[in-house]
Amino acid sequence: MTFTPEQARRDIPILNRVLPNGRNLVYLDNAATTQKPQQVISAISNYYETTNSNVHRAVHTLAGEATDAYEGARSKIAEWFGIGDGYLIFTAGTTEAINLAAYAWGRHNLVAGDVVVLTEMEHHSDIVPWQMLAQEREIEIRWVPLQVETSSLDMEVFAASMEGAKLVGCIHTSNVLGVRNPVEEVIRLAHSAGARVILDAAQAAPHDRLNIAESGADMVAVSAHKMCGPTGIGALMVNAETFAEMQPFIGGGDMIREVFLDHSTYQEGVHRFEAGTPKIAEAIGWGAAIDWLAQWDIAEIHSHALGLARHTAAGLREIEGMRVFGDHGDGDGAVVSFIHDKLHSEDMAHMLDAHGIAVRTGHHCAQPLLRKLGLTSTNRVSFYLYNTMAEADFFLATVRDLVARFT
Ligand code: ALA
Repeated sequence: MTFTPEQARRDIPILNRVLPNGRNLVYLDNAATTQKPQQVISAISNYYETTNSNVHRAVHTLAGEATDAYEGARSKIAEWFGIGDGYLIFTAGTTEAINLAAYAWGRHNLVAGDVVVLTEMEHHSDIVPWQMLAQEREIEIRWVPLQVETSSLDMEVFAASMEGAKLVGCIHTSNVLGVRNPVEEVIRLAHSAGARVILDAAQAAPHDRLNIAESGADMVAVSAHKMCGPTGIGALMVNAETFAEMQPFIGGGDMIREVFLDHSTYQEGVHRFEAGTPKIAEAIGWGAAIDWLAQWDIAEIHSHALGLARHTAAGLREIEGMRVFGDHGDGDGAVVSFIHDKLHSEDMAHMLDAHGIAVRTGHHCAQPLLRKLGLTSTNRVSFYLYNTMAEADFFLATVRDLVARFT
């Protein structure tokens, strides 16, 4: 089907919301979380209305239906990302996925003196878990610098950091700058040094199907809620070699084969990493989000959202005193971070909110990156498939007006 934002909007009830101040919602905070189509909301409520049951346990009808729906969702999501369903572990989101990597892979494969290479562009979720492990294990973390002028990683330092590296963690697409990193080169450099690679693809997954098997990445972390699915679910997807090196992290029901008083044995497949009652309704909702997005070509969705970001970045750059980040090249994300030299970012966000416009403010869970930019906060707008040029223009006109009135 040919993609239009109007078609997508028709399915999303919240976009008709009138805010308490009487303003129509203009939702430009999609890098934080995306809005949900009725198809996703209905899939979740239908599941609770007709099928709700635990999975993998009982033999009654509902249990069988719930298990089929849950595992069916896994297969669909895995196929979307180009990986076998035996290698997609459900987690609570990207953050838990990277923590799972640190505990299930890192703890069993990294020892004192090993090197983990990370970048200054990382989100906190790809920093803190490795710092925690480094403190426990005396692992060395090496940092690849951000080049502020070009909003890019210093790939020469990247290459020079590889000696002795056992793991490379890299954000696929920056949630602050929108920059898509040269992940192909990162994977090539890491593998030629014998290191494994984990990609934080939270911001990439809504815009690109990723083809994980083809990409050669060893581990990829994503969240459903950034791609019109529910909150509370995401995945760590791993290749066969990495999967074989992982040991269970969270112990409990469903992940075991047998439990004795003095030891336990574990399931073989992905279930060994999914202890307890899993995220059943959430997986089904994520599957419905994939079905909904799959009506269109993801490249068209990305090109539309990126077009809005480019238009917005260009418009903001025309405003005196405005600093705008990122280049918005072809593969980049549809986020535009900006800061005005006289209007504090929090004030700007409150005034935009008074016009119904939702933007994010703050350090974007990337304090090292913000520090490198010499800032503690920016404003950020981020676009997705249901945003329109009229919304981008309304946002620009509002910012122009606020700057004119308050500076
Ligand atoms: N990481 C999300 C963001 O960038 C929450 O807003």
